[in-house]
Parts: sequence; C-alpha cells; structure tokens
Amino acid sequence: MTGVAKQSAHDQQTHISKLSLTNFRNYATLSIDIDPGAVIFSGDNGAGKTNLLEAISLLTPGRGLRRAPYADVAREGGDGGFAIHARLDGPDGPVEIGTGIAGGDAAGEGGRRVRINGAAARSAEDMLEWLRVVWLTPAMDALFTGPAADRRRFLDRQVLAIDPGHGQRALDYEKAMRGRNRLLAEGSRDGAWFDAIETQMAETGVAIAAARAELVRLLAAMIDRLPSAGPFPQADIGLSGALESEVGTTAAVDVEERFRRALAEGRDRDRAAGRTLDGPHRSDLVVRHRPKAMPAELCSTGEQKALLVGMVLSHARLTGEMSGMTPILLLDEIAAHLDAGRRAALFSILEELNCQAFMTGTDAALFSSLKGRAQFLTVDHGTVGPTKDA
Ligand SMILES: Nc1ncnc2c1ncn2[C@@H]1O[C@H](COP(=O)(O)OP(=O)(O)OP(=O)(O)O)[C@@H](O)[C@H]1O
Ligand SMILES: [Mg+2]
Repeated sequence: MTGVAKQSAHDQQTHISKLSLTNFRNYATLSIDIDPGAVIFSGDNGAGKTNLLEAISLLTPGRGLRRAPYADVAREGGDGGFAIHARLDGPDGPVEIGTGIAGGDAAGEGGRRVRINGAAARSAEDMLEWLRVVWLTPAMDALFTGPAADRRRFLDRQVLAIDPGHGQRALDYEKAMRGRNRLLAEGSRDGAWFDAIETQMAETGVAIAAARAELVRLLAAMIDRLPSAGPFPQADIGLSGALESEVGTTAAVDVEERFRRALAEGRDRDRAAGRTLDGPHRSDLVVRHRPKAMPAELCSTGEQKALLVGMVLSHARLTGEMSGMTPILLLDEIAAHLDAGRRAALFSILEELNCQAFMTGTDAALFSSLKGRAQFLTVDHGTVGPTKDA
C-alpha cells in the first residue's frame, strides 16, 4: 500500500532518471540510472562527488554551483569540450536535456549550448521550463559573514524561482552600469548619452528591486511554515537598499524617476569615485536568527548552517509551489555538519517536499537511517556504482 502511494507521489515529482557525462571534470564518460527521491553519493576526498552535483547544477542557467570557467570544467586531457546529458521524468513526461561546449570552442566563450529534446534552445533559461535546481554547498557556509556580493547573488538566484526573467534583467542592468562607468572613467560630459543609460538603469534597477522584495515577502511566508521550535531555526529576512525599501510603498514609476534623478545628480560624485555608488548593485540581504533575535553573522558556525538549511528548504518549497515543479536539491556534504537528530529532521522534510535530493558525504554511514529509502551510490575516481552493504 505504501509502495503504491510512494510511486504515485514520485509520478508528480520532476526528477533525473539518467545522467550522462562526457569529459566533465574527472569523468571521461559516465552514464548512471538514478532513482527518484534521495540519492547518496559517497566516496573518498577527490573521488568526484561534488563534480556530479556541479554537472546537475549546470542543468539550470548560469555557471553552476562552483561558478567555474568552462575551461576548468572540461576534463584535463580531453578535447577542451564537455557534455552533460540528463533524462528527466515528471508530470509532463520524459524530457531530454543536453548542455556543454564543443572541443575547440575557445573554452566556451560563446556560452554553452543547450538542447532540449534534441532541438537547440534559444537560451539556457529555457531549461527553467523543465526543471529547477536548488543547492547548498560548503562554500555557502560563509554566506552571512562574507561579502554582500555573495548574498546578492544568492538572493538573485532565489528570485529565479518566482521570475525566470530576473537573470536577464540583472544582466541588462549590469551592462548599462558598465556603460555608465565607462563614460565616467572617460570623463565624458555627454549628457544625452548619460540620460539614455541612466533611464535604462532606472527601469531595470527598479524591476530588480521589486522582484527581490517580492521574493523576500514570499520566502518569509515559507520560512514561517518551518516548525518554530524545530532543528532549522526560522530566519527573519529583509533587504537593505534604497530602491528595495521604496518599491513596497511607492509607485514603481515614482521610484524609477527618483533613481534616475539621483543618478543624474550623482555624476560628479561617481566620477570622483570611479564607479556608480548608488543602485541595486549595492543592496544586501539581511538575515536574523529569529529564536535568538541575533544577526545571522554573529551566530555560531553550526547555528548559521542550520539557519541556511532552513532558508534553502523554504526556498525549495517556494520553488515547488510557484513553478509547479518539485525542484531537484543538491546538498553537498550536508551530513557532515548536522548531528543525528538534525539529519533525521532533514531527511523527513525532504520526503515531505517530495523532491529528488542528491546528497554527498565521505561516509555512507551518515545516511544509514535512509537505508531502503534512498539510492546509495559510491563514487570512485571518475566511476560510480552501487554502494556495497547499503
Ligand atoms: N577539469 C578537470 N579534469 C580532470 N580532473 C579534474 C578537473 N577538475 C577537477 N578535477 C578533479 O576532480 C577530482 C574530484 O573533485 P570533487 O570536488 O568532485 O571531489 P569530491 O569527491 O567532492 O571530494 P571531497 O570529499 O574532498 O569534497 C579532484 O581530484 C580534482 O582534481
Ligand atoms: Mg566535494
């Protein structure tokens, strides 16, 4: 009976059923069949576990969970190219997604190619129609204490859950700002040129701020659904940034006009500074540990990790509800940081979310409570096979 119920739940789940790699990091060729639900990759340091998660993270726009240049991703000793291929199963039936760069493609400077069901996609964003990928890696442990740029990137990636156009908008803003910074550096006084660029920055900048504010509002509602005395504490999240605080209370056209004027009036100041000082590229995500009523950056390492896990799980829930697709979760070295109670709590939230969740660890024993409920795979120097005794 449970088996039947479980099977039908998985029918509603978007999951990878087959993953194939060619010349990707330490994998010359690999092809593995994957079950829905939890998937555990265990193996020694350097075996290639994070590489597998990175490959899956490239099934979404951007540079993947390491933000690595494609030249680093292509296998050393290969032809300079790489390919990732995944077969997805879900409510809409099977879909084949392929991405990579061809050997000799100047290290992918032209961007990586994406094919969906054999046809070339217009852009990497087309993949968002078929799957959503959410990740948590050890590199993100410094999210609260590190530079604001990392939190903005984290925030903007989260916005994609509610608005797939956000990535392009951020690129458009950056491009306009680079144009303005160039004019500043050249000492240009071409008012018409500045006006045109600043109008574009105001339009895209306010749209960025509005999308971020909406994400924070929706994510906060999901965080409220975490158990208040649970192992993953609720976070109070907010935004610091002039535009972000105005968009909730002032009409967008007025915020746009104010920002446009501020840019025009700030030209001399920005010329002296050598860059644009005001705008959504300076905003920050502000996080507080609610039960402790303390800024996240002052919390202990373990507390920060638990806070982040709660935020990422809430984001996964939001992604599922907004997109109608259960996201695929990549949780790198997740078990190492969590005690047995928190691990059990994590596993049961993952089952409740009904997500396919890839988890890695050097020791499969950390996942032993998932025996019979997860697929256990051992990674060994660019090969992957079933884990013995799992
Ligand atoms: N372009 C490349 N070509 C060949 N090998 C590579 C390339 N890039 C990275 N590697 C190798 O891939 C190996 C596996 O890396 P990965 O980060 O996946 O290990 P891991 O299993 O996650 O290890 P850990 O437990 O230490 O996190 C490393 O030994 C690294 O040297
Ligand atoms: Mg690793």
